[in-house]
This record gives sequence, structure tokens and C-alpha cells, in this order.
Amino acid sequence: MITFGILATSPIAHEWMKAVTAAGGYRLGAVYSRSLEKAQAFADQYGSEIETYDSLESFLMDSSLDLIYIASPNGLHFQHSRLALEAGKHVVVEKPAVLRPSEWTIVYSLAKKKKVMLFEAARNVHEKAVALVSDFLKDKEILGANLRYGKYSSKMPALLAGELPNVFSAKFGGGALMDLGIYPLYVAHYWFGKPAQVSYQAQKWDWDVDLAGQANLLYPGSLVTLQTAKNYTTYLSSEIYTSQGTLIVDSVEEIKSARFRDLTGGEEVLPVQVASHQMEEEAAAFAQMIEREDWLSWEKWTQLALDVHETMWKLRQDAAIVFEGDQDVE
Ligand SMILES: NC(=O)c1ccc[n+]([C@@H]2O[C@H](COP(=O)([O-])OP(=O)(O)OC[C@H]3O[C@@H](n4cnc5c(N)ncnc54)[C@H](OP(=O)(O)O)[C@@H]3O)[C@@H](O)[C@H]2O)c1
Repeated sequence: MITFGILATSPIAHEWMKAVTAAGGYRLGAVYSRSLEKAQAFADQYGSEIETYDSLESFLMDSSLDLIYIASPNGLHFQHSRLALEAGKHVVVEKPAVLRPSEWTIVYSLAKKKKVMLFEAARNVHEKAVALVSDFLKDKEILGANLRYGKYSSKMPALLAGELPNVFSAKFGGGALMDLGIYPLYVAHYWFGKPAQVSYQAQKWDWDVDLAGQANLLYPGSLVTLQTAKNYTTYLSSEIYTSQGTLIVDSVEEIKSARFRDLTGGEEVLPVQVASHQMEEEAAAFAQMIEREDWLSWEKWTQLALDVHETMWKLRQDAAIVFEGDQDVE
């Protein structure tokens, strides 16, 4: 049983609670919020013997905690992960775990030094359906793909009304690519590997962070296009083109169906199984790696995260999306 603490009482932290309940193997031990009342209100929903903190230092010193789940704004993930790892805790940090690949290298090295595991909660890539698609593609020549995730943000009205929610703030590492584009980017790296060349055209808010955009990932012999948006929703499927036909996936952020149309029009439906909660499979995967001390698998996921963040960094540079702190990276 992994006893964990929640860092920040955001709505996604409640989703994490549902996911760990479905996955099993976890127990909530403590909650940290900037407000003790909020921490208490969160804890009250999940049991009586849960510690609450408004001091980050005391929370991370809580010796009963094996793992910290970090659900703070993007721009604080690196700092919060670093502190939690320094305290010797395993870490699950919401996506994007870092804003720059150099930060991932730092937290990865720290996790190794402290002999704890650090995971980026890129939930979709841990779905069994993603591995199923990968297996299906193994014997096929990939010619290209169109992968999409665009969803109208519940925080768009606030942005349009003149406010600046964290998810649209350059200070906090916001924008469509960081928030939603990361999902298709993860599966692109998982299925096709690291691209040789990348570019990103972004529609920006106030010439600042991206509201929507299209990325091109060029591989030897194939071109993969990613569409992402926070100012509208796309209902189009994603497609992977092979020399034997086209694989149609309903959505790369949560695969519920996948079917292959061969060159003669014949169709094969892949046996996709959907978990009871969209974060359940990642929660189960992290618990399994920790319990089994499966460092080999952990290294594989951390390398994938580094590859994704290296690509994100290049994409951001191509579209001149600049966050606070970028100037400190040489
Ligand atoms: N995996 C998924 O499907 C999924 C879905 C949605 C979001 N997310 C990720 O979850 C994270 C949180 O997203 P969100 O939209 O909930 O973010 P948010 O509203 O900006 O902030 C999340 C929490 O962080 C704390 N916080 C807010 N501003 C802060 C500040 N200035 N300094 C310190 N703490 C602050 C607050 O908790 P307290 O008031 O308790 O301190 C707040 O509830 C993001 O990284 C996002 O990418 C993931």
C-alpha cells in the first residue's frame, strides 16, 4: 500500500482520488493546500485520519507519506517536484511535469540520487489501448498520421472577460501545446519515436501563449501532424496511415475505439478495453513500478518524458512562445 499526499486541492486532485480508488494499492495520508480550510474540506471527503497542512515544508516532512501527487499550476511543478524528491518521496506530477527539458534532467537525476521514482502524469500514454495500437502497427510501414486533441476550455470565458487564468498564463507555463498538445505528442513519441525535425504554427492570445496550433513532426519516410486547441473543440478522429491501410482512432487523449481499414476497404476492429476512470491505468502502472521496484520500466518512461519535453521545447521555440525563466536556459 502506497501512502500518498496531495499537493494542491484542484479539481484534478479529486479525479486522482477516483483513479487511485479504482486502481487500488493507494491510501490518502495527507493534504496540502495554501489554505488549511481547503485542505480540511478536501480531506473530509475521503476519511477521518488524514493530516492537513498549509505549510509545504511540514507536509513534505510527514514521514508517513511515500509519494506526493502534485496538482499545482504548471509553472510550479518543477519547484514542487524538486522539494518532494529532496524529501525522499516518490512523485507523480501532473502534465506538463516541467516547462523545459533541462528541468526534467535535473529532477530525473535527483530522483535517481534519492532512489525514488518520479512520474509525469501523462495519463493517455499509460492506457493499454496505446500499447495495443503500438503492437498492431509493429509490422506496418508508417507513412504519416493526423493526431488531434482540441477542447474548448472552461476557462475561456474568464480569459475573454479580461482575466488571466494560470492555464493561459506565460508565467505559469500555459497554452494549448503545454496543456493539451502534450497528449498527442506523448503517443506520437510512443508510437513513432523521436522526430528528426519539428515545427509549430500557433494562433496566439495577445501574441503570448498559444490558444491553438498545428505541429509537424517529420520522420524518415513519414510526416505526423498534430492539432491542438483550447479555444474550440474538435470532434474529428485521429488517423495513422500505413502502407497496408489506415488506422482510425476515435481520440488520442482517451482511446475508446480503433479500427483499421485496409487498402481493399476491409475493416478490422481492435479489441480496445476502456478503464473505469481515465486516470486509472496510469495510477495502476505507477503503483506497480513502485511496488515491484521496476527501475527498468521507470527508466523507459523517464526517457520518453525527456524526449517529449525536448520536442515541446523545440516547438515552443519555433512558435516563439516564451515563458518566465526560459531566458535562464542556455
Ligand atoms: N490529467 C488530466 O486530465 C488533467 C486535467 C486537468 C488539469 N490537469 C493538470 O492539473 C494541474 C492543475 O490544473 P488546474 O487547472 O486545476 O490549475 P490551477 O487551477 O491553476 O491550480 C491548481 C491548484 O494549485 C493551487 N494554486 C493555484 N494557484 C497557485 C499559486 N499561484 N501558487 C501556489 N499554488 C497555487 C491551488 O490549490 P490550493 O488552493 O489548494 O493551494 C489550485 O487549486 C495542471 O498542471 C494541469 O495541467 C491535468
